[in-house]
Amino acid sequence: MELYIDTANLDEIREAHDLGVLDGVTTNPSLIAKEGIDYGKRLGEICEIVSGPVSAEVLALEYAEMVKEGKMRAGIADNIVVKLPVTVDGLKACKALSDEGIRTNMTLCFQSMQAMMVAKAGAYLISPFIGRLDDISQDGTELISQIRTIYDNYGYDTKILAASIRHPKHMLECALIGADVATVPLKVIKQLMQHPLTDSGLKTFLADYNKAFA
Ligand code: E4P
Repeated sequence: MELYIDTANLDEIREAHDLGVLDGVTTNPSLIAKEGIDYGKRLGEICEIVSGPVSAEVLALEYAEMVKEGKMRAGIADNIVVKLPVTVDGLKACKALSDEGIRTNMTLCFQSMQAMMVAKAGAYLISPFIGRLDDISQDGTELISQIRTIYDNYGYDTKILAASIRHPKHMLECALIGADVATVPLKVIKQLMQHPLTDSGLKTFLADYNKAFA
């Protein structure tokens, strides 16, 4: 399973990169707004740290503008993946950019037919938002499961990028279903290595050793 970090913060990206298991980065307009920095400038900085896919979301809502903005973002670095919403205009823009060899990440997916349509249009990634579905009492991981089945049924090679991940259990469920990628905040990446028995076991080992030899 590939692991991306979901942030536009350079310190967090460096910290995750230094763990040695980071495959890519996702950003969105809200994450950039939190940093208070020009989107293009920050994407360039991120691509200097990470060589894997870096998702850059377009702000345009209309097809022709999306394509124009997508091409502009893709020009920043070879590893930029253009992030587009799963709207009708986004679908058309996905097809146009994919036909030109520009990779796309189709975002804000909340139902499986959106995922099927963008796979037909050649999307590189589909981003189902599982946490936001759970937030409204729907089943986010069920959506991942449906998309996995549909993609396997028809041999679509669009990668499933599980997004809006809130905790390690989401990660576990996505890994068991067979999501190709998960994008995760730094806090959750660290939680993936945590268990209270690991901490207490370590404490006991060291205490026993020090009692015997100190
Ligand atoms: C993915 O690309 C999105 O940036 C992200 O996962 C959204 O997560 P949130 O629901 O925690 O904002």
